[in-house]
Amino acid sequence: MKSFSVAVALIAPVQAGLRFGCSSLTIQRIDPVVEPGQTPSAHVHHIVGGNAFNATMTGNVGDRGTCTTCEMSEDFSNYWTAVLYFKHPTNGSYHRVPVKNNAALAAGTTGGMTIYYTQGFRMTVGSPTTNTLDQAKGHIGLRFNCLQTLLNRGPEMVDFPDKPCPAGIFAVHHFPACWDGKNLDSPDHQSHMFNTIKYDGFTNAPPCPASHPVRMPQLTYETVWDTTKFNSMWPSGTPNPFVWSFEGTRGYGTHADYMFGWKGDSLQRAMNKSECFYDGCGSIKKQAMSTANKCTVKDFVGEQTDGWLTSLPGMQM
Ligand SMILES: *[C@@H]1O[C@H](CO)[C@@H](O)[C@H](O)[C@H]1NC(C)=O
Ligand SMILES: *[C@@H]1O[C@H](CO)[C@@H](O)[C@H](O)[C@H]1NC(C)=O
Ligand SMILES: *[C@@H]1O[C@H](CO)[C@@H](O)[C@H](O)[C@H]1NC(C)=O
Repeated sequence: MKSFSVAVALIAPVQAGLRFGCSSLTIQRIDPVVEPGQTPSAHVHHIVGGNAFNATMTGNVGDRGTCTTCEMSEDFSNYWTAVLYFKHPTNGSYHRVPVKNNAALAAGTTGGMTIYYTQGFRMTVGSPTTNTLDQAKGHIGLRFNCLQTLLNRGPEMVDFPDKPCPAGIFAVHHFPACWDGKNLDSPDHQSHMFNTIKYDGFTNAPPCPASHPVRMPQLTYETVWDTTKFNSMWPSGTPNPFVWSFEGTRGYGTHADYMFGWKGDSLQRAMNKSECFYDGCGSIKKQAMSTANKCTVKDFVGEQTDGWLTSLPGMQM
């Protein structure tokens, strides 16, 4: 139960925060939070973080990890989202959309995500069953940007852009920040957490309700999907041809999962220091991305997820 005490202790001063990059670890059909023990899980995920990643993850992940694709070398957590695919508008074949580095990450980051802890254990945000615009609007903090350049993101959108984006599609997943203080997980992987945020973007969460009184660091993932090489195959006036790996169109159903795996008290040490905001500080160990990039996990499923595919992995009729 070590991870429990770590999670309980994570009450961050308001000014604290941490931002770092993690290279891609693996892309496969595994989901130890929503479908533990299932090899394969229902749909493909893009996963970053520690090498304790597996279909079943029990015990103290921070103690079991021996390497991580994250810049913070004591962070063996795993962070994952669904994978974006291009669906060819005329022949119906699918191609995985590559991930490219966000701006301002450590040199050598490959693909991956930007992770923010502002202001642990396991939780999810969003759901593949979200399939209307109104439902999607209700998921504050799950948004897209049509990148003009890597730095000029344009406005946040609830659904996928309706025309090609010059620099890719930016996906952001903000997790809720209020915890019930008792459960490390819940049957739907969400009800042990509560979102008091009312607006999109990076905003400090308003106070937590009595049902979920413990304020946690606010966790956010950013992923840059490099859709550019598919733009010429998108006939003007036709619907956005990108789908999530569960056949989710329009961007609805975007979701992300988190498995806490910081070693010992390393996250608390980082969150305790206000000067940690952006790119760490003296109390937290970093590694060169060339070292991080050597971290790998087994391909547990052994199926093709890249190249032209006639159906999405796991979605065959
Ligand atoms: C993954 O988990 C399974 C089941 O717990 C275990 O048998 C296997 O050794 C693990 N594999 C790795 C590479 O950790
Ligand atoms: C669909 O089009 C792409 C791009 O031209 C091509 O590479 C792929 O093989 C096509 N798929 C089928 C089933 O014809
Ligand atoms: C973090 O700060 C709290 C409150 O000041 C303190 O009790 C705790 O020992 C600190 N934890 C670490 C790991 O530095």
